[in-house]
Amino acid sequence: MQAPTHRIGPEDLVPMVAATLADETDLIANMANIAALVFEALPDINWAGFYLWKEGMLVLGPFQGRVACTRIAPGRGVCGTVAQERRTRLVPDVHAFPGHIACDAASAAEIVVPVLHGERLVGVLDVDSPRLNRFTLVDQNRLEQVVALLVARMTP
Ligand code: SME
Repeated sequence: MQAPTHRIGPEDLVPMVAATLADETDLIANMANIAALVFEALPDINWAGFYLWKEGMLVLGPFQGRVACTRIAPGRGVCGTVAQERRTRLVPDVHAFPGHIACDAASAAEIVVPVLHGERLVGVLDVDSPRLNRFTLVDQNRLEQVVALLVARMTP
């Protein structure tokens, strides 16, 4: 598809991801484009990307934003908690989250969505914001739809 000629907004995210993933099944390529689309479509965010579940650890995957920690153990920080619990965590204030890992001191709010292929944990989608209370249930719903589109492109 053609690159957008205008800045995209939050309501464009799900349709843009659907269009971008339509002809591609490669997981890393699709994660890379999702990171770029999330970073562009959602205002007031400073990091968007994936950690991949590899041999019992989360390992940094495709992302947009500043350099991030490369490995997160299960149960550590928001990402490690989501990997363990396998459900989305919407964190209004990361400093109030026990064990939060501050990759970037500017981050104030965070949302993490698990990527599950059937029963198998593939990784997590992590989005950070410098603004407290940045994420809403509308954002959560959109990001969960984005992850569902990613998983739907994966081969069985
Ligand atoms: N803050 C995350 C770590 C990942 S970075 O923010 C990119 C966490 O607590 O899991």
